Amino acid sequence: MSEENSLYNPIVMDHFLNPRNMGDLDDADGIGEVGAAACGDIMKISLKIDDNGRISDAKFKTFGCGSAIASSSMATELVKGKTIEEALQLSNKNVVDALGGLPPVKIHCSVLAEEAIKAALDDYLKRHPEMASRVAAAEAAKEKKA
Ligand code: FES
Repeated sequence: MSEENSLYNPIVMDHFLNPRNMGDLDDADGIGEVGAAACGDIMKISLKIDDNGRISDAKFKTFGCGSAIASSSMATELVKGKTIEEALQLSNKNVVDALGGLPPVKIHCSVLAEEAIKAALDDYLKRHPEMASRVAAAEAAKEKKA
């Protein structure tokens, strides 16, 4: 193992070495693919979303560093079972916290995971305008309350 690996805690190493939800969903309802300008790494997230707007499955394919793989593994775990509204709130900080922290130079890898999840949700909402209206109405109601 390289010296760099000593920077990573056991949770990150576990998600890097035994990634959860790796692969594609043939019948995905939303797909997001993003790239990091800084390093050229690429992350693709596929989501299966049921009629109630809940994420029933999530998979990823990441061409990138260990932190990007660990971040996409954790991000797919975090959004599974969530509603679209809840998943839209997922931040890279949530991913970093769930991983028990990342070295500062690797934070952008977790940003890629947040962006890929959001891109997949956007793709789904573009394909399902009726759900997009529902999400927008729920957001507006929440803002009114706040
Ligand atoms: S180094 Fe760029 S995604 Fe990790």
